[in-house]
Amino acid sequence: MELQNNVLSPEEQELLRRAIFSQKQTMRAFVHSYGCQLNVSDGERIRGILESLGYTMTSSWDDADLILLNTCAVRESAEDRVYGILGNIKQYKRKNPDLIVVLCGCMASEEHTASYVKSHYPYVNIVFGTGSLNRFPALLLEHFQGTKFACDTGEYDDVYDGIAPSREHPFKAAVPIMFGCNNFCTYCIVPYVRGRERSRKPQQILEEVRQLVQSGYREIMLLGQNVNSYGKDLETPVSFAWLLRQVEAIPGDFVIRFLSSHPKDATKELLDTILDSKKIGHHLHLPVQCGSDAVLKRMNRHYTIAQYLEIVEYLRRRDPGFSLTTDLIVGFPDETEADFQGTLDLIRRVQYDNLYTFIYSKRRGTKAAEMEDHTPPEEKKKRMERLLSLQREIASAHYQRFLGKTMRVLVEGESKRKGYLMGKDNAFIIAEFPGDPSLIGQFVTITVTETHNWAVEGVLVQEETTCRK
Ligand code: SAM
Ligand code: SF4
Ligand code: F3S
Repeated sequence: MELQNNVLSPEEQELLRRAIFSQKQTMRAFVHSYGCQLNVSDGERIRGILESLGYTMTSSWDDADLILLNTCAVRESAEDRVYGILGNIKQYKRKNPDLIVVLCGCMASEEHTASYVKSHYPYVNIVFGTGSLNRFPALLLEHFQGTKFACDTGEYDDVYDGIAPSREHPFKAAVPIMFGCNNFCTYCIVPYVRGRERSRKPQQILEEVRQLVQSGYREIMLLGQNVNSYGKDLETPVSFAWLLRQVEAIPGDFVIRFLSSHPKDATKELLDTILDSKKIGHHLHLPVQCGSDAVLKRMNRHYTIAQYLEIVEYLRRRDPGFSLTTDLIVGFPDETEADFQGTLDLIRRVQYDNLYTFIYSKRRGTKAAEMEDHTPPEEKKKRMERLLSLQREIASAHYQRFLGKTMRVLVEGESKRKGYLMGKDNAFIIAEFPGDPSLIGQFVTITVTETHNWAVEGVLVQEETTCRK
């Protein structure tokens, strides 16, 4: 297959292929992505590049000729893990001196990381940032031409242009709709490692979705750091709600999901589009981060709890069972007990179906890293435990609204429990039920017979005969 992006000329591509296969006929690549779904999606494009150059994918470190770590920088623990793995890779390099080691993704986009890696892990051959994903083949060529440390952390426009992803899942597909973030929440490294917002062209996105649906994909997940600001930077600006309606109009039986929505940009047009849609479930992941206006201000989030609750109330007025999930940070610098009580009050009021909770992690170069913090780490851990225990109580009661109801579920796989399958309904609720693995990849209808604080259980009412690829 010819690489479509024009970073390398066809002659250079040929040169690169000859260099890759100069010693062996089969070359194996191990690609490991950490972090959020956007990074996993970048990983699928990277696999696409490697496959188009002739590499075979492997899931073992031992027999790989190229190891690529696609990293996350959102919390310190994520970075520590990668440094640990980089240390381990040394043994593989000793066994196979021709092994190519590549570090890319969000960590690789941090200015200080590339130089640290260069001096502390001299066996890393190539480093590239999220904004230069399309430069990977050019860096590989540089490597084969003798460059010891081929590195590019620049920012290019549409780094996906012409790169076909090698998808890991047979019926669920992630489709990034924009790159970067403009919001500079004071705790967050993402705008520094993913650059400014750049929307992909609607025609490109719609064509990708059309092809996915035609080839049998049942779930389309639209991705961006703040999808609600999609399209503002285009030559002819459009709204995210508009894009959702175009995706919905594509013929076929599929569900539309999207991540993430910033509350400050959640317009009534967007909420109505979700509520009126047949393909988008009645679910919104609306990260609130904390329940205190004072902390929200220090986080630079640009909304108050009252404004957030207006969105929730509008959705629940039109559908009392509307499902909400959120992200919460515990222990932001100088978060007081009263601030934390605000978070507990908020989760009591909103009744989320699920929370994604994080203890604040200091990120070098962000504004919050300069803020004073007098709350001891043990106190932060205790707050996290209190938060999770309250959520378990709330969710147990809240999930009971599904008892006796029917749900249309996309079957994702076998559950850990023998004889059971698991899947998600349109509103992202996890469901388990007894069934045959032949149903994986199909929509089924179940009746809910039992509820927990994170999922429901049910029995099959109807199998649908839609066939997938
Ligand atoms: N763009 C998304 C949004 O604003 O909703 C979030 C993307 S971020 C990758 C996912 C979550 O990580 C954030 O919503 C936040 O809760 C959490 N997070 C980001 N920076 C963090 C930090 N320094 N410490 C702890 N959690 C953090
Ligand atoms: Fe980070 Fe805020 Fe951007 Fe989300 S919106 S990626 S939390 S800066
Ligand atoms: Fe995602 Fe981590 Fe980067 S959460 S955007 S991979 S810093």
